[in-house]
Amino acid sequence: MHKLFSLTLFIFSLIFISTPALAETSVKLTLPPASLAKWYKPENKRQVWLHTMFRLRRAMQAVNNYAIHNNQAGMQKWADKLNEDYEKIAEMIPEWKNEIKPRLLPELKMFIESNDIPRVKATLKMIKRTCNDCHETYQAQATAIYRSPEYDDIPVKNINGNISNFSDEMEALSISVNQILIALEDRQQSIALQASKNLKLQLNHLGESCNQCHKDEQAPYERILGSATMQRLQSLEDNILNKRIKESRKLMGEIGVTICARCHNTHRTLSDLREALVN
Ligand code: HEC
Ligand code: HEC
Ligand code: HEC
Repeated sequence: MHKLFSLTLFIFSLIFISTPALAETSVKLTLPPASLAKWYKPENKRQVWLHTMFRLRRAMQAVNNYAIHNNQAGMQKWADKLNEDYEKIAEMIPEWKNEIKPRLLPELKMFIESNDIPRVKATLKMIKRTCNDCHETYQAQATAIYRSPEYDDIPVKNINGNISNFSDEMEALSISVNQILIALEDRQQSIALQASKNLKLQLNHLGESCNQCHKDEQAPYERILGSATMQRLQSLEDNILNKRIKESRKLMGEIGVTICARCHNTHRTLSDLREALVN
C-alpha cells in the first residue's frame, strides 16, 4: 500500500514538474506591420529602413563616445542626428508609435546642455532599451521577410532541358541522390550510373541559376559547384563503373555535405523561415 502510494506520488510529481516544460513547446513570432514594405526594395529604391537603423546606431555610439570624452559640441551634434532619425521611426511606421519614447530625446539634449554626463549616459541606456525591445520582437522576422531572397521566380532547367522552378528541381535532385544510394545498396550498377549522370546534369542546370542573384561573381559558384565538385562527380561515375561501392558511398556523403548542405545553410534555412512568415 505504502509502495503504491509513493509510486503514485512519484508519477504526480513527474507530471507536475514536466507540465511547465510542456507548455513551452511553441514560440510566438510577431509580424512587423505590412507598411514596412514601403521602406524596402522593390517598393522603395533603397533599403531606407535599414539605413535609418545604421545611422541610429552610429549616432548612439557618437554621443556615448563624446560623453566619455566630455565633448559637449560633439554630443550636441550627434544628439540632433539621433533625434531626427529616432523620430523617423514613428513617421515611417505609425503602427510603431508606441514602441519608441520620443520624450527621451529632449531630455538627452537637456542633460547635454547642463553637461550632466551621468544623466546623459543613463538616458542613452533608456533609449537603447527601446531599440532592444523592438529588435527582440521584430528584427529577425523583418530581415527574413524584406531582405532574404525569393526563389519562386528563379528559372532552373529540368533534366530534359525545359524551364522548371527551384522547388521542383530540388525535389528532382533529392530523387537522384536517393536513387544512387538505393542502387548502390542493392548493387544495381547501371541504375546507379544513370542516376549519377542525371545528378551531374541537374547540378549543371542549377549552376546556371546562380548568376540570377550573384551577378558577375564567380566565387559563390566556385565554392559549391566549382572544380572540386565536378571532380567528385566524375570520380563517383568512375567508382560506380568499377563497382567500388564503399568509395562511391563515401563520395555521396561528401557530395551531400559540400553541395547540398553547404548551399542550404546560406540559402534554404532563411528561405524556409521567410516562406513560413509570408504564407
Ligand atoms: C542554391 C543552392 C542549393 C543547392 C546547391 C542545393 N539546394 Fe536544395 N534548396 C535550396 C533552396 C534555396 C531551397 C528552398 C527553396 C525552395 O524550396 O523553393 C532548397 C530546398 C530543397 C528541398 C526541399 C524542396 C521543397 O520544395 O520543399 C530539397 C529536398 C532539396 N533542396 C534537396 C537538395 C539536394 C539533395 C541537393 C544536393 C544534391 C540540393 N538541394 C542542393 C538551395 C540549394
Ligand atoms: C520600432 C522598432 C524598432 C526600433 C525602436 C529600433 N529598431 Fe533597429 N531595427 C528594427 C528592425 C525591424 C530591424 C531589422 C531591419 C532589417 O534587417 O532589414 C532593425 C535593425 C537594426 C539594425 C541593423 C542590425 C544589423 O546588423 O543588421 C541596427 C544597427 C539597428 N536596428 C539600430 C537601432 C538603434 C540604435 C535603435 C534605437 C536608437 C533602433 N534600432 C530602434 C526595428 C527597430
Ligand atoms: C535568389 C537569389 C540567390 C540564388 C539563386 C543563389 N544565391 Fe547564393 N546567396 C544569395 C544571398 C542573398 C546570399 C548571402 C549574401 C551574399 O553573399 O551575397 C548568398 C550567399 C551565397 C554563398 C555564401 C557567400 C559567398 O558569397 O560565398 C555561396 C557560396 C552561394 N551563395 C552560392 C550560390 C550558388 C552556388 C548558387 C547557385 C547554385 C546560388 N548561390 C544561388 C542569393 C542567391
